[in-house]
Amino acid sequence: MRIDILTVLPALLESPLNESILKRARENKVVEIVIHDIRKWSNNKHRRVDDYPYGGGSGMVMMVEPVFHAITELSSERSYDMIIYTSPDGERFNQAMANKISLKKNLLILCGHYKGIDQRIRDHLITHEISIGDYVLTGGELAAAVICDAVIRLIPGVLNDETSALSDSFQDNLLAPPVYTRPAEFNGWKVPEVLLSGHQANIDAWRQQQSLERTHRLRPDLLTEND
Ligand code: ADE
Repeated sequence: MRIDILTVLPALLESPLNESILKRARENKVVEIVIHDIRKWSNNKHRRVDDYPYGGGSGMVMMVEPVFHAITELSSERSYDMIIYTSPDGERFNQAMANKISLKKNLLILCGHYKGIDQRIRDHLITHEISIGDYVLTGGELAAAVICDAVIRLIPGVLNDETSALSDSFQDNLLAPPVYTRPAEFNGWKVPEVLLSGHQANIDAWRQQQSLERTHRLRPDLLTEND
């Protein structure tokens, strides 16, 4: 997979996408991430990419021209399966979406900034708008990092134990069961007996029952979702 990210704040993305599992995935060439500064496509001598909104109002708006040139140039080099804009008014990101996106080959992500971007970019160039939740961030960079993280870890070969992504919370619309490690007792707090029993069928049944119980208690909405 190749992911191109267009941003006015490249530094904000470098570090979260260059640690631990994602770093290894990049080094192993499972995923290529290229972060582009939109200012590169500005024809303004001050490299400005924002301007005042028509009709007045507070905040600045990302200009259509630099983004148009950026997307046009990158699209001439490869064809993108999705051109994503990160925005609080996009479709809410979830595990099902991450699964679908993880099957794609080339992604282009445009990080929103300022008050927003010129609507013509959204109307003519963007194929998908994604929100990571019902709250407003200062920009779309952290949202892009969240999407990349959730998607990349699903690509085969990224996690050491490939089955571990399959047992994640949400993969079957259930929260994951609790996990424990040594010691078997600490401070009088005991690990559930069944996990020490060595009886795999009982352990699997316990985990399934715990998943269901947790989901009922903490996220009953998941049990009624069809996705
Ligand atoms: N940009 C600002 N807030 C956002 C959000 N919640 N999701 C995606 N992009 C955003």
